[in-house]
Amino acid sequence: FLKDHLTVVVIGASGDLAKKKTYPSLFALWKSHFLPEKIKIVGYARSKMSDADLRDRLRPFLVGAKSVHGRTDSQVEDFLEHCVYRSGGYEEAEAWKGVNEDLNEIEANSGMLECNRLFYFAVPPNVFAPAASAIKDNCWNLEGGREGWKRVIMEKPFGTDLSSFESLSQHLSSVFQEEEMYRIDHYLGKEMVANLLYVRFANIMFEPLWNRHYIKSVTITFKEDIGTYGRGGYFDKVGIVRDVMQNHLLQVMSIVAMEAPVRLAGERFDEFIRDEKVKVLECVDAIRPEEVVLGQYTASRDGSEPGYLEDEGVPKDSNCPTFATLVMWIRNQRWEGVPFILKAGKALNERKAEVRIQFHAAAAGEFLFPSAGELVRNELVFRMQPNEAIYMKANMKQPGLGDKITVSELDMTYRNAFPDDFDKLPDAYTRLILEVLRGKHAAFVREDELRVSWKIFTPLLEKLESQKPTSYVFGTRGPKESDELISKLGFRYHGGFYKYLKSIPG
Ligand code: BG6
Repeated sequence: FLKDHLTVVVIGASGDLAKKKTYPSLFALWKSHFLPEKIKIVGYARSKMSDADLRDRLRPFLVGAKSVHGRTDSQVEDFLEHCVYRSGGYEEAEAWKGVNEDLNEIEANSGMLECNRLFYFAVPPNVFAPAASAIKDNCWNLEGGREGWKRVIMEKPFGTDLSSFESLSQHLSSVFQEEEMYRIDHYLGKEMVANLLYVRFANIMFEPLWNRHYIKSVTITFKEDIGTYGRGGYFDKVGIVRDVMQNHLLQVMSIVAMEAPVRLAGERFDEFIRDEKVKVLECVDAIRPEEVVLGQYTASRDGSEPGYLEDEGVPKDSNCPTFATLVMWIRNQRWEGVPFILKAGKALNERKAEVRIQFHAAAAGEFLFPSAGELVRNELVFRMQPNEAIYMKANMKQPGLGDKITVSELDMTYRNAFPDDFDKLPDAYTRLILEVLRGKHAAFVREDELRVSWKIFTPLLEKLESQKPTSYVFGTRGPKESDELISKLGFRYHGGFYKYLKSIPG
């Protein structure tokens, strides 16, 4: 695709996602010479704006965008030269015909025969279906004997439950072929999530332990230390379970739990990975309501941070959970009896996303080291953010003349292990847009994956609607009922990985 002409149409170019993620990622790729020299980025939205207005809006978000190598920030203006703007309604056939004429003219002027078109949907979900039809009807056929691929990027929410997902999906698949669609879950673009596959399958030492005989529990945690801040009106219709658990955390879980794909290269390799993810999700039992804790945050102790109900647009009697802990059981040979605990919350004590694999206690530990009491369990932790790291908790002899046991970490903090690469780790969207341009689907969510994920969550979501969440104070660890539930499942909390977190800024 680098030698072809590329037009990217950013639908919803005046919105938040476009300016914070889409354009900065396109700029990062352009800076690093990962986009064709012959490129045009056509922004499209309802607001009336000139090209210059769009560029003024984008400029502050582009300075500082990461690049792997190559051009520098001083080239923001050169990049913006490639960005133009058209306004029109999302469902308006006439307006899309106009865009198509522009695209044809741009492509004719490029003098190229191979011309690819990428449509990036950065719009609210109610617009997905009508805009998809209008684009397919009016912008799909190239003129003048030119040829090339057409691809579409979309991002959650894909429905709010199984039935709304089915109707959206039915519409979209009547418009686009599955291979034309790239459904972003940006967690699949994170460095550590991409790395999970490598760590699991490129090493011999983990696989023998990766099952119910050695693993006691798996906890996938998402914590944010900020509230919904003015986004409450939107968040209230969604809640934490739909916002990050049914998608981001479940995606991570499926990679941790799946079997090895048939191949990781060659024909159909994308499908092999996604087949395995679907397979393991098919084994997940319905979530038991008695194994769910819901929370909603109240103002911080000093009153400086408002509670969720005080956020603009949130109904005063809202039951919307801003915190949830729930348990998944995978009914297969590898995982029978191992709880997969998903925990997510806003307005907590820290910002962190990690996968924590806790092993059974060492078999001989109790009688070999009786004075040590209950031995700390071994843990393997993949910290996705901040400060990517993989570390293992292990019991050691306390150095010196005594015979005490202590715990230490076998540590692989990215900043230390890959000092040259750490500051250049690409943003999730940057990686994913490049994968789309390369025509690779593995890091995108297939339709049947979404269907099974809604099957897992919909019964629970229906039950939860009328349930009152437990209050927790802004800036704390969340409701104590969550810790109680996790401890009942056999998880032992031995304190955090503070040695490094304290010494390395986030
Ligand atoms: C989004 C959610 O999908 O993911 C947000 O809608 C959340 O509520 C965000 O803050 C978290 O993404 P990240 O990459 O900051 O962990």
